[in-house]
Amino acid sequence: MSAGRAADALCFFVNGRKVTEERPDPETTLLSFLRDNMRLTGTKYGCGGGGCGACTVMVSRYQPATKTILHQAVNACLLPLCQLQGVAVTTVEGVGSTKTRIHPVQERIAKAHGSQCGFCTPGMVMSMYALLRNKPQPNMDDITEALAGNLCRCTGYRPIVDGCRTFCQEVNCCQANGDGPCCADKPQHDAPQLFDQDDFLPLDPTQELIFPPELILMAEAGSQGTRTFRGERMTWVSPASLEDLLQLKTRHPQAPLLMGNTNTGPDIKFKGVVHPLIISPSRVKELFEVTQTPQGVWVGAGSSLSAVKSVLEKLVAQFSSEKTELFRALIQQLRNLGSQQIRNVATLGGNIASAYPNSDLNPILAAGNCKLSIISANAGRRELPLNQDFFIGFRKTILKPEEIIVSVFIPLSRKGEVVRAFRQAPRKESALATVTCGMRVFFGEGSRLVQELSVYYGGVGPATVSAAKTCTALVGRPWDDETLSRACDVLLEELTLPPSAPGGKVEFRRSLTLSLFFKFHLEVVRSLRDLGVVGAEPVDQVCSALTPLPRQVEAGLQDFQSVSESQSAQDPVGRPVMHRSALSQATGEAVYCDDLPRTEGELFLALVTSTRPHAKITALDVSEALQLPGVVDVVTSKDIPGKKVRRSFGYEEELLAEEEVSCVGQMVCAVLADTKAHAKRGAAAVRISYQDLPDPVLTIEEAVERSSFFEPRRLLERGNVTEAFSAVDHVYEGRIHLGGQEHFYMETQSMLVVPVGEESELRLYVSCQWPTLTQEAVAETLAIPSNRVSCHVKRVGGAFGGKVTKTTIIACITAVAAWKTERAVRCVLERGEDMLITGARHPVLATYKVGFMDDGRIVAADIQYYTNAGNTVDESILVIEKILLHMDNTYDIPHLRGRAAACRTNLPSNTAFRGFGVPQSLMVLENMVNDVAMVLGRPAHEIREVNMYRGPSLTHYKMEFDPENLLRCWDECKAKAELSARRRAVAQFNQQSRWKKRGLSVIPIKYGIAFGEGFLNQAAALVHIYKDGSVLVSHAGVEMGQGLHTKIQQVASRELRIPSSKIYISETSTSTVPNTCPSAASFGTDANGMAVKNACETLYKRLEPIRKQNPKGSWESWIMAAFFEKISLSATGFHRGPDLGMDWDKMEGRPYHYFTYGVCCSEVELDCLTGDCRTVRTDIVVDIGRSINPSVDIGQIEGAFLQGLGLFSLEELTFSPSGFLCALGPSQYHIPAVCDVPLRLNVHLLPDSHNPHAIYSSKGIGEPVLFLGSSVFFAIKDAVAAARADSGLVGPFPLDSPATPERACLSCATPFTQKIPAGKPGSLKPRAVNI
Ligand SMILES: Cc1cc2nc3c(=O)[nH]c(=O)nc-3n(C[C@H](O)[C@H](O)[C@H](O)COP(=O)(O)OP(=O)(O)OC[C@H]3O[C@@H](n4cnc5c(N)ncnc54)[C@H](O)[C@@H]3O)c2cc1C
Ligand code: FES
Ligand code: FES
Repeated sequence: MSAGRAADALCFFVNGRKVTEERPDPETTLLSFLRDNMRLTGTKYGCGGGGCGACTVMVSRYQPATKTILHQAVNACLLPLCQLQGVAVTTVEGVGSTKTRIHPVQERIAKAHGSQCGFCTPGMVMSMYALLRNKPQPNMDDITEALAGNLCRCTGYRPIVDGCRTFCQEVNCCQANGDGPCCADKPQHDAPQLFDQDDFLPLDPTQELIFPPELILMAEAGSQGTRTFRGERMTWVSPASLEDLLQLKTRHPQAPLLMGNTNTGPDIKFKGVVHPLIISPSRVKELFEVTQTPQGVWVGAGSSLSAVKSVLEKLVAQFSSEKTELFRALIQQLRNLGSQQIRNVATLGGNIASAYPNSDLNPILAAGNCKLSIISANAGRRELPLNQDFFIGFRKTILKPEEIIVSVFIPLSRKGEVVRAFRQAPRKESALATVTCGMRVFFGEGSRLVQELSVYYGGVGPATVSAAKTCTALVGRPWDDETLSRACDVLLEELTLPPSAPGGKVEFRRSLTLSLFFKFHLEVVRSLRDLGVVGAEPVDQVCSALTPLPRQVEAGLQDFQSVSESQSAQDPVGRPVMHRSALSQATGEAVYCDDLPRTEGELFLALVTSTRPHAKITALDVSEALQLPGVVDVVTSKDIPGKKVRRSFGYEEELLAEEEVSCVGQMVCAVLADTKAHAKRGAAAVRISYQDLPDPVLTIEEAVERSSFFEPRRLLERGNVTEAFSAVDHVYEGRIHLGGQEHFYMETQSMLVVPVGEESELRLYVSCQWPTLTQEAVAETLAIPSNRVSCHVKRVGGAFGGKVTKTTIIACITAVAAWKTERAVRCVLERGEDMLITGARHPVLATYKVGFMDDGRIVAADIQYYTNAGNTVDESILVIEKILLHMDNTYDIPHLRGRAAACRTNLPSNTAFRGFGVPQSLMVLENMVNDVAMVLGRPAHEIREVNMYRGPSLTHYKMEFDPENLLRCWDECKAKAELSARRRAVAQFNQQSRWKKRGLSVIPIKYGIAFGEGFLNQAAALVHIYKDGSVLVSHAGVEMGQGLHTKIQQVASRELRIPSSKIYISETSTSTVPNTCPSAASFGTDANGMAVKNACETLYKRLEPIRKQNPKGSWESWIMAAFFEKISLSATGFHRGPDLGMDWDKMEGRPYHYFTYGVCCSEVELDCLTGDCRTVRTDIVVDIGRSINPSVDIGQIEGAFLQGLGLFSLEELTFSPSGFLCALGPSQYHIPAVCDVPLRLNVHLLPDSHNPHAIYSSKGIGEPVLFLGSSVFFAIKDAVAAARADSGLVGPFPLDSPATPERACLSCATPFTQKIPAGKPGSLKPRAVNI
C-alpha cells in the first residue's frame, strides 16, 4: 500500500488526450480536476451533489467480457478522480467547438433557442450526446429520460426538448393519444417558425471521437495488484480481487466501499464526514457478475442501477409475464429512481447498504423475497434474507462492518403472485420519494384467499418498514373490499408517525400508506380478474386510480407575427435571431465568472455564517482555522476600512455581523486560503460563541403579533370600501399563505476581486445585475473613490433579481479580503450556502374581505398583505409598494383598499425576485376572485370576465390606460384554448373518473413596466467603430440569459444598417459606461436599446457626408474615409427614460410607463390519491407589442411561466422551528424539471399590437408572465374541487401556495385522507414552520 509508486499512477483519457496523474488526491472529483487542473471549464458546478446535471460528462469504458464500449452520462461532481483508471471522459469541449466543428447536438440546442443564460447548456448537451452515442435515433421517451436529471432555470425546457426532438425519427403527433384536434393541423405552412430544421447539420456517428485503443489494450490485459493513492486526508485503496478486498475490509472495517459514490460523496461534501481510508472495489469482478438460475437471477451488488434495469428488461422479454411480476415492479421503481446520471453509477449493493429510509429499492426487494449473498474474511459466505430484520434503524442494517454484499438474488414470481411497487415524490422525476413501497401477495391456484402477503414501505419511519401486522391480519382472508377496509384499519394502527417525525408531512405520508395500498388492492383485483378468479369488473371510475398520468410531450405552437415584407433582409429587428452567445454556451466556450483563470497568488474566500436566529456574539475564535493547511487569513468586520454597513430606508445592514446576529446564515467572517477546499475547512474550524436572545420571530403571524415591521407600511385605497360592503349581495372573507421561492439561478454567486497594485485600484469580475451598485458599495466599504473600482460583468448564469443587493454585500466582503491581503480573492458560493445566505422571494400572508353581487360583480375588496422580509429591509418596502400597485390586476373594482406591511423576522433577508411582489399580489387577488366564483357556484373565468376593465380606464391609483389589448388577449386565449369545448370535456372526464380529476383555469395579467423611481429608468451606451468597420457596443445592461445583448445587437444593426456579424458586445463595465441602473424591472431593452439607438444614430449621422460622397461605397470604405476625415467614430448614447412616480400620501401617480398584458389557460390532471399532477396543456397569449426578437421573447415567456408553475405548485422553502433553512440543494428544493413542462405548450404573441412607449413599439416581457404559472395552481384547485364534490364537499376551501402534491392530496378529502386523525394544533413542535 505504498503511495506514489509508478504502477499507481492514474491513467485515463479526456477528450482523446491521455492524462497521467502520479499523485491523484482521493478527495478530488472529476469536476474539480477538469475545471482546475485541465482548465476545461465548460463543465459547470451547479450543486455538487448530483442533483442538477450541470456537471454532466460522458464516461466511456471498454468491457472486455462483451468487447463493447459503454457510454454513460455521469455527474462529474460525484465522480472521484481516482475512479477514472482506464476510462475515456468526454466533456462538452470534446464534443465540438466553434473554432473547429460544432456538433449537431450543440447546434440544435442553440438554434432551437434552448440556451438562455447558458449555464445548464453544456450539461444538457452532454446528456443528449451520451444518449445519441448509444442510440442515434432516440424516441421522445428516451429524450425526456436523458434530460430528466438536468435542471434549467431559464428556458422552461420546451426549446431544449424541441431542439433534441429533431433527432427523433418517429412521428410525434398528439394523435398518438388519439384525442382532440391534431397538433400537426395547426401551424399554417407559411407561418413563421422559430428555427428551420433544414439548416441543421446531420448527425454522423462516424465523426465521433474514437475510444482510445490504448485503453482497450489496458482493459484486455487487466490490472493486477492493489492500487493505492494517498491524499492530504484520505487514502484510496483499490484491490484487484475479492480476497484482497476481504482482507482490506477486515483490517479496515470502518472504511466505506466506494462504488457510485452517490451516498458517500454527498456525506463527505455536505456533512463534513472524513474517511481516512476508502476502498474502491470496482475491479473485483465477483461484484459485477450476473447469474441466472431456475428460481431467479443473482445480480452482482456492484452493478449500477442502469445495468440492473437492463438485466431485468432482458429477462422480462425472456419469460412469461406471470414469472416477471417482481422484475417489472423493480423496473418501474428503477425508472423513477434519481436521474439517468445517478442510475449510471449508483449501485444495487450501495442502495441496499446505504439503507435510506426512502430507498425505492429496499421495500420492493424485501417484499419480493429477495436475498443477499454476504461475504467476509472471517465468516466466509452466507445468504441473508432481505426482510424486516435486515433494516435496524436510520441508515443501519444488520451487516457487520467487515461484511460485503456480493450479490442480490431476485426471484422469478410464481403463478398466483402479484407484485407491485408505488412511489410518490415531491416532483414526478428525479426526486427522492416521500413514500415508496413494495407489495406482494400470493394466492393458491384458482383462489382469492390470501396465502402470503408482504408489504414494505419507505418514507414512513427511520428505515424501510414492514407492515407485518397488516399482512398477518390479512392472510387467509378473501381479497375483497372488506379486506381492504381491514387493511386500512390495521395499517393506520401499525404505521404511526409522531406529529414531529423527521421529514414532516405526517398526515400526507400516513394517507399515502393507505392510498398506495388501495392502488395495490385494485391491481390485485385486476389480476384476479385476469386469472378468472373473480368475475366482477372493477368499474372504470374506480380504475382511474391505476391509469398513469399522461406523459407524452407534444410539439407546441410558437405563434408570432413575421416582419413586414418591405423590411430589408439585413435588418434583424423582429426576427427570431438566436441568442448571440448560444453557440459558445453550447460548446462550453462561454466564460462565466468562475471560469476566469486563476491569477498569481489568488486566494479563495469561504464565508462563516451564524447558526443562531438571534443571539449576541460573545466570542469569535479563529485560531484553529489559522493553523490549518493553506489558510492565510480571516476577515472580520474590524478589517473593513470604510463603511461597515449598507443603508436603505433608514435601516442599516452590517456587511459582517460584529456583536449580534439576527438570523441563521448571517455572515460573520470569512476565511481566506490557497484553495477552495482549504478555505472551506478553515471556515468549518472557526468557533463562534453565542448568547441566545429570547424569542426569535420567524413567522409572519409572530411578527404581526409582536408588531415587528419595517416602516413605512403602505395603504392604497379608492372609493369607499367600508360603505360599499353594506350594499352588496354577498360578503366573503378569506385568507391565503404564499410560500417564498429560491432564485436557484444555476450559476451561484461568484466573484473575483483583483487588486491592480497601485493607487488603490481594484478590478471586480462579478456575476451581478447592477455593476454600478457593486462598484459604489465596494468604494464606500474601502473608503476609496468610485473611480478606483471597476466592475466587469461578462455574463451572468441566471439572476432573477437575486444578484442585485445580496451580491453587492458579498462583493464588499471579498473586496475587503483582497484589500487586506493585497492578493486576488475569489468567492464562489456553494449551492447550499447560496440558498442559506442570499434570501428568496418574500412569503406573503394575506387576508381579504370581498363584497360582490349575485351577478358576480365585485364591488368592494379590502386586502391586508404581510410579507416576511427577513432580518434586513433590503428592497422590502419597494416590494410591498409594488404589491399594492398591482392589487387590482385586470379588474375594475370600484371600492378597493389594500394595506401592506413588511415583517421584520429572524430569517435571512428576502430580496427582489422576478416579478418583485407582483406574483404574490395577483395571487391573493385571483384567489379571492376564485372564492367569489365558488360562493356563487359559477365558473371562475366568468367572474373574471364580468369584472374586467373595459374601455379607457383608471387604475386604483388613477393612472390612465386602455385595456383593449388585455381584452383581445382574453378573447384570443379562450378561443385558442377552445375553452368551452374543453370545459365540457373536463366535466365529462371528471364524471367518469373517481380518482383522477382534471381542472381548468384561465388567468389574466396586467403588469406595469419600468421603475416607479423615475431616475432608475435612464440608460447610457458607448459605441465604437474601429477602422476595419467592426463595431463594439457597450451599454448599461447586463446579459443574464434574457437575450438583452442579442436584442441590442439587433438595434445597432438596424440603426447602423450593417449586419449583426460586424457588431460585438464584450461585457458590461463601469469603466466604459458609468452610473448604470439595474438590469431589472423588465426594462433592460427599453432603456438600453434606446441609449444604443441614440449612439448609433449619432454615428450614422456623422457618416452622412462620407456616404453622400460615395453612396455605393462599402461600410468599411466609409469608416476608413471617416477616419481620414478626422470624424469621431465613437459616440455615447443616452436615454433619459420616463419620469414616473407615485405619491403615497395622495395615493395616486404614474408609477409605470405602460402595461404588458397576457392571458393563460392551463389544464391539469391530478391523481387524488397521491397529489401527483401533470399539466396537460397550456395556452398563453401575450401582448408584447411588436417583438424585437420573437425567439427571445417566447423564451422569456416560457421560462417565466415555468418558474411561476414552480412557485405556485412545486417549490417549497421550509424552515425549522429554530430558523434553519431545511432545503439546501436540489435534492430538497425542487424547481421544475423536464417532467413539469406542460405536455402541450402553445404560445401566441398578440398580433398587430403597438406600443408608442418603447423602442420599435416593443414591450418589456422578462417578469410579467411569471404569474401566469398560477393558472396551474388554479387548475389544480379546480381539480381538487371536483374531487371534493365526490366526497360531498362544495364551496370555497383553503389551499395555500404552492399547491404541492401534499396540499392537493389532503385537500381532495378522499376517504383515505379523511381516515388520518389531524394532529392537535400546538400539541407538538412541528418539523417545519410556515414562515
Ligand atoms: C441526486 C441523487 C438522487 C437519488 N435519488 C434516489 C431515489 O430516487 N431513490 C433511491 O432509492 N435512491 C436515490 N438516491 C440514492 C442512491 O440510489 C444511492 O445513494 C445509491 O444507490 C448508493 O449506491 P452507490 O454505489 O453510489 O454507494 P456508495 O456511495 O458508493 O456507497 C454507499 C455505502 O454503501 C456501502 N456499500 C456499497 N456497496 C456495498 C457492498 N457491495 N456491500 C456492502 N456495503 C456496500 C458503502 O460502504 C457505503 O457505506 C439518490 C442519490 C442521489 C445522489
Ligand atoms: S453540479 Fe453535479 S449534479 Fe449539480
Ligand atoms: S439556460 Fe438553462 S439555466 Fe439558464
